[in-house]
Amino acid sequence: MKKRTTLASIDVGTTKVCTIIAEVDGSGGLRIVGVGITPSNGLHKGLVVNINEARESIRDSVRKAEQACGYKVESAYVGVTGRHVTSTNNRGVVAITHGDRLVRRDDLKRVLSCAQNIKVPSDRRLLHVIPRGYAIDGQMGIKNPVGMHGFRLDVETHIITAAVTSVQNLVKCIRSIGLDIEDLVLEPLASSEAILTLDEKQVGVILADIGGGTTDIAIFKEGSIWHTAILPVAGYQLTRDIAIGLGLPFDVAEEMKKRYGSVMPVYESKSETTSAISADGHGVSYQDLCDIVRARVEEIIRLILLEMPRSEYEELVPAGLVLTGGSSNLSGIEALGRDILRLPVRVGVPTTMTGISDILRDPAHATSVGLLLWGMKHEGRQLWKSRGLLRRFLSRIKNLFR
Ligand SMILES: Nc1ncnc2c1ncn2[C@@H]1O[C@H](COP(=O)(O)OP(=O)(O)OP(=O)(O)O)[C@@H](O)[C@H]1O
Ligand SMILES: [Mg+2]
Repeated sequence: MKKRTTLASIDVGTTKVCTIIAEVDGSGGLRIVGVGITPSNGLHKGLVVNINEARESIRDSVRKAEQACGYKVESAYVGVTGRHVTSTNNRGVVAITHGDRLVRRDDLKRVLSCAQNIKVPSDRRLLHVIPRGYAIDGQMGIKNPVGMHGFRLDVETHIITAAVTSVQNLVKCIRSIGLDIEDLVLEPLASSEAILTLDEKQVGVILADIGGGTTDIAIFKEGSIWHTAILPVAGYQLTRDIAIGLGLPFDVAEEMKKRYGSVMPVYESKSETTSAISADGHGVSYQDLCDIVRARVEEIIRLILLEMPRSEYEELVPAGLVLTGGSSNLSGIEALGRDILRLPVRVGVPTTMTGISDILRDPAHATSVGLLLWGMKHEGRQLWKSRGLLRRFLSRIKNLFR
């Protein structure tokens, strides 16, 4: 890019690829200057299934974003999702051995590397090791222990791993169009950055990004990540149900879903009557369409609930469920969620940016906006990673000779 005060993100979704280029202003705010959205090909349930098709979709999206602002993207934050992603919580403990018993940055590094000392099979790679909280001499709930005194430092971490091959395919697509990857970020973590409030994360909340191919879940408690999961069911399956159930071509079913789809029982719906509706020359009963949509969305919400402990989930997540992703545009989805969970439910739309952000004010863009926010938050830290340093050094040399 022209200068280092720009960031880019690429959300390679099952239905669309969205590239965003943003300028970071002096106060750390983001100004969106370029957006490129293209339909995605070569992806299924969040995974690359055809490298050539996926690469072309990504290339088109990046080109569009570049044309909008005149910047050249050299590297980007990229989202990862898919059923291959798994997560676990792990602990690390170290002794503080300095004479003054003061916790230093080095101790933090030591305890984190101790916590990630789990056996990762060779076909999986570590995606994130996120500290959830520290304890000094048994005193829990410490967010930043540097500068405090103690004999023993504990850390609770959330560890996320992904299948090497699935990640490699995505990395290959991005690299083959000449781009570097700043960081690979699990998509529900990115969406959370754009959608959840600090309060919600503190009291406990579930974020569910219901996209085209996957429903990405992140549960937060006491300001930290508690659980992440990816379900391989979302908007695509909804459309397929409609196509099969009502005997429609897939494209017509998709159009019907977006235009008329609702999860409200028909007698509560104000917009349409219970009569026939049509799209592209095909007519179906409004009630039949809504019955199919409601059944599948209800199933998705119940699957989200299964990610919670069987009992007392109300105490774990009193802030309830925040829905995002394109499929959360379905009318009546908040009310249906409240009926099932008996907790607050809202639909989250990314709003925290300036610039040409109007087109991004849709739940479908929670991940792409969240990737940028994640990038901004972690950029300083990323510089300390040796691979980041080396890559940046090589990239500077490359630029000198350009
Ligand atoms: N108004 C609407 N009503 C119902 N569904 C909608 C509406 N608008 C978009 N969708 C659905 O949202 C889905 C796309 O959402 P999104 O853009 O978040 O997915 P994605 O990021 O491409 O996929 P994924 O994250 O699952 O890989 C599609 O299935 C689409 O049919
Ligand atoms: Mg998505």
